[in-house]
Amino acid sequence: MPADQLQEKYTCQSVLSVKQWDSPGLVSIKATRDAGFNFVPGQFARIGLRSDDAQTEPDLWRAYSMVSHPDDDYLEFFSVTVPDGQFSPKLAALQENDKLWIEKAPFGFLTLERFLPAKALWLVSTGTGLSAYLPMLRDAATWQHFEKVIIVHGVRTARELAYRQTLEQLAQTNPQFIYLPVTSREPWPNDGQAACRVTTAYVEGLLQRVTGQPLTAEDARIMLCGNPEMVTEMRGLLQEQGFAASRRGNPGTLAVENYW
Ligand SMILES: Cc1cc2nc3c(=O)[nH]c(=O)nc-3n(C[C@H](O)[C@H](O)[C@H](O)COP(=O)(O)OP(=O)(O)OC[C@H]3O[C@@H](n4cnc5c(N)ncnc54)[C@H](O)[C@@H]3O)c2cc1C
Ligand SMILES: NC(=O)c1ccc[n+]([C@@H]2O[C@H](COP(=O)([O-])OP(=O)(O)OC[C@H]3O[C@@H](n4cnc5c(N)ncnc54)[C@H](OP(=O)(O)O)[C@@H]3O)[C@@H](O)[C@H]2O)c1
Repeated sequence: MPADQLQEKYTCQSVLSVKQWDSPGLVSIKATRDAGFNFVPGQFARIGLRSDDAQTEPDLWRAYSMVSHPDDDYLEFFSVTVPDGQFSPKLAALQENDKLWIEKAPFGFLTLERFLPAKALWLVSTGTGLSAYLPMLRDAATWQHFEKVIIVHGVRTARELAYRQTLEQLAQTNPQFIYLPVTSREPWPNDGQAACRVTTAYVEGLLQRVTGQPLTAEDARIMLCGNPEMVTEMRGLLQEQGFAASRRGNPGTLAVENYW
């Protein structure tokens, strides 16, 4: 596509700051936001980078969920560096004032408009899948439509629990919110449960037991985001219990997004 046509599809932004989390491969990047870039919590942007300095235009593109809220005048993304990945090591190496490009249109349907109000909203993620949920927690409608909001974050070890402090603070100050970190390679950090994946925790009834919240299609809505194998397995288990995606305008009880 000619360069002038491409330029109509994206804007050039610059890095404001890069935060390195405790785990070496995890970073959060804040960038400037074009005033015309509007999105709904849960949506993602397509970020462009140049494969090398000889390129004049971005030639590598990947999807990243917005961690920031639509009201923020900046964009924030949370990224894991995949060893040998083409894109994520370049994103993690960005420094203040470096350029990155953002497609003008946001994408994605992992948004709360898909659900009718319910007793409990379960937001289940693995790894960086947490990103999509963070702006939802800052939306007034979330707290009006659901009596309880539960974030389940599945990671290998507690070191990978990015945003843990923010989420624990919110849980302390907002009685509607429950934060449940689930570690698969060491005991759970807050509850001392034996190491297990979020899928096992669901099958064994641990998610419901530890939080004391319903996880039935009558009383709950659930989102799944992150590792596609987790999404497939968890979706299958939930469908057996009557959860279903939205169809032809009928609001569902289950919504999912795969990160690869
Ligand atoms: C809708 C959508 C939203 C996304 N949002 C985010 C986000 O907010 N943060 C983020 O870090 N990534 C996100 N991703 C993944 C991201 O687009 C890239 O795939 C990722 O950064 C790796 O790019 P890469 O070129 O380095 O490796 P790729 O060649 O794209 O991927 C190589 C392999 O790395 C693994 N992998 C890719 N992404 C991840 C990941 N996020 N966590 C663990 N393993 C992974 C998979 O095994 C994949 O096959 C999202 C993807 C989609 C489709
Ligand atoms: N996370 C980091 O801090 C970090 C840092 C640097 C690089 N990386 C690289 O990033 C890639 C993966 O990153 P990641 O650890 O964030 O993502 P991940 O491999 O998707 O693991 C995140 C969590 O999802 C669990 N999981 C995996 N498959 C599942 C399934 N089918 N059902 C339910 N749960 C499942 C994992 O459990 P298990 O423990 O059982 O797999 C883990 O608890 C790897 O290439 C890694 O080397 C990660």
